[in-house]
Amino acid sequence: MTNEDEVQPFLATKSVLECLCLHIGFPEVRVGKIPPPTPLRPQRRAILVGASSGIGAALARRLAQEGYHLALLARREDLLKSLCEEINQKYGEGLARYYVHDVTDYDAVPDLFRTILADLGGLELFIYCAGVSLPPGLKKFDFEKDRRTLEVNFLGALAWLNPVAAAFQGMKSGQIVGISSVAGERGRVGNPAYNASKAALTCYLEALRNRLTRHGVHVLTVKPGFVATDMIKDAKKVFWVASPERVAEDIWRAIRRRKQEIYTPARWRWVMLIIRNIPSFIFRRLII
Ligand SMILES: NC(=O)c1ccc[n+]([C@@H]2O[C@H](COP(=O)([O-])OP(=O)(O)OC[C@H]3O[C@@H](n4cnc5c(N)ncnc54)[C@H](OP(=O)(O)O)[C@@H]3O)[C@@H](O)[C@H]2O)c1
Repeated sequence: MTNEDEVQPFLATKSVLECLCLHIGFPEVRVGKIPPPTPLRPQRRAILVGASSGIGAALARRLAQEGYHLALLARREDLLKSLCEEINQKYGEGLARYYVHDVTDYDAVPDLFRTILADLGGLELFIYCAGVSLPPGLKKFDFEKDRRTLEVNFLGALAWLNPVAAAFQGMKSGQIVGISSVAGERGRVGNPAYNASKAALTCYLEALRNRLTRHGVHVLTVKPGFVATDMIKDAKKVFWVASPERVAEDIWRAIRRRKQEIYTPARWRWVMLIIRNIPSFIFRRLII
């Protein structure tokens, strides 16, 4: 008997959430506090990891505008709380809720995912936006910073994307969005571990897309250029800096159109085409 054979009978008798939880090994989850969707009142529910500031916060506001029920995750509780208050006041009470979470606490993910699924009563969209950039300094090497970068940007993503992918595969629907970066396309002198973490995330998302497309699940890879957030506030050589709101708008449009990969703003696609093709003997002389 295949997984599908096991899931089909449940689809006939149980809610999508209960099937979903059974499929990923959470049999005891009960449908939560948000009323179930009906044809006249379709519900959209999203989890956004890394929502307390920057691109994540802008995306939360954009999705709330579209009527999404949101579970917002990050470590800084004060920022999450005020973002939820702002969204609930502006777009409807109970639309946003928050969960304080450090993505490097990998063991906490299954229980937290179960809690959020129960609270939301289902899930249509998952976004992994958490990230850090910890440049070691041009002539320095720093394993602690490198490890932290890989843990937040990549391993934290895997800890979430595995159970989310299993759940969506079981449901035969759902959308996954990963915020990677143009920085993942070349190894540069300034921030090697950041480049490597984003290259790994981009590659993982592509593999996930190839596995999940056949199950009706959509995976979007987002590659922003420079964005005016805390992450680049100390960076010197930046240009074409986009606002987080502009980037959030591009991401929302790509979600709606079920795109596979976007550069935001779009002109970075052509810049990166050139940068990817700069020969190594030239590229290694550039201090970027
Ligand atoms: N800004 C840019 O130029 C740029 C360009 C390309 C790609 N990106 C990517 O865009 C994403 C968002 O970054 P941003 O520019 O919006 O910067 P940001 O304002 O610093 O946002 C980073 C987000 O990640 C969360 N985060 C960091 N460490 C975490 C941890 N251990 N556990 C849980 N959450 C954690 C932060 O929340 P807490 O600190 O509250 O935990 C915050 O919500 C990142 O993946 C970044 O790599 C940014």
